[in-house]
Amino acid sequence: MNRAAVVGAGTMGNGIAHVFAQHGWSVALIDTAPAALEHATATIRTNLDRQVKKGTLPPGATAETLARIATATELQAAAGASLVIEAASEQPAIKFAVFEQLDHVAGPDAILATNTSSISITEIAARTRRPSQVIGMHFMNPVPVMQLVEVIRGHATSDATTRAVMETAAALGKTPVEVHDYPGFVSNRVLMPMINEAIFCVMEGVATSESIDAVMKLGMAHPMGPLQLADFIGLDVCLAILDVLQKGLGDDKYRAAPLLKKMVAAGYLGRKSGRGFYVYPPSS
Ligand code: CAA
Repeated sequence: MNRAAVVGAGTMGNGIAHVFAQHGWSVALIDTAPAALEHATATIRTNLDRQVKKGTLPPGATAETLARIATATELQAAAGASLVIEAASEQPAIKFAVFEQLDHVAGPDAILATNTSSISITEIAARTRRPSQVIGMHFMNPVPVMQLVEVIRGHATSDATTRAVMETAAALGKTPVEVHDYPGFVSNRVLMPMINEAIFCVMEGVATSESIDAVMKLGMAHPMGPLQLADFIGLDVCLAILDVLQKGLGDDKYRAAPLLKKMVAAGYLGRKSGRGFYVYPPSS
């Protein structure tokens, strides 16, 4: 059986573990916080049950899939994996430390992938002794639903590593798209300026949040409007990515809207904090 390890049991980590286990992989789901592991397991169960109820998975699939996921609080649990996907906090110091440790824990042939949405794959890879086996595997939220995996080649990533990860993503029922390692890759370099511009429109009183979202949903067939999507992603995450784009590309066209900075400073982080451009009841 294929063995994967997923580091970080937050929203992305639990979705990634879900998808690998659903496709027959044995998964070590690792997080230093036992409460995060419990929460992740409960979320995976709910999402699998939803798929069973819809008939997209056969009855019994929830228990079978969960049985393939073993939780752990130590990185050592990644030792037997052929592919490790890191989905820890989006902070360079944390990612660098995790990769330095993974390089020692994982087998010599293992591929070390990161789900980062904007941190340089090349810089992460340089923390290891195997930069040719380090790659970006950027899943989209909600992971069980979204078709794309953005596969990001660092400066030293080998063709063999890229091919293996593209094949794995396809075997998970996803559509992999290969891109190169520049700030924001493709997904966030294109998405974030749109979200930022929508925030400038709110700030300048061009229209209400509801109206801006309606324009993009009804006029451009986006499933969510840009402000609804910003709340879904997290306003702090959007701000951090815009900062990476501005700094990394050296162009002020990526400067974050002052309203975005103000909302993050106020703790209005979107859905996860109960308030962003919209207000969310506790259970949503
Ligand atoms: N697990 C499994 N299934 C799920 C799920 C989950 N976590 N969440 C939703 N679903 C399923 C539902 O069961 C439903 O299935 P069917 O189509 O078979 O009925 C389907 O997904 C749609 O769900 P809903 O009907 O509840 O809600 P919806 O139609 O409003 O869709 C959505 C919800 C899929 C999130 C949709 O609004 C959407 O696609 N939004 C855009 C999401 C997006 O852009 N994501 C990327 C964010 S950027 C990112 O992740 C990367 C980054 O670096 C910032």
